[in-house]
Amino acid sequence: MYVCNCNGIREREVRAAIDQGATRPAEVFRRCGAAPQCAKCVCDMRDMIAETREALRYAAE
Ligand code: FES
Repeated sequence: MYVCNCNGIREREVRAAIDQGATRPAEVFRRCGAAPQCAKCVCDMRDMIAETREALRYAAE
């Protein structure tokens, strides 16, 4: 499934970027070798980053 239609960035690529340390959508774009265009995907990327942080925080407890 695509998260970013403008750049063809798939969900698994966003998750890989987050796993590699991306904490902001701009870092996800950079790690994917892309740049934001319409930015409609930024909210979804933020949600994915927040979900990952929440899961890591929960796992650390
Ligand atoms: S959908 Fe990602 S920049 Fe447009």
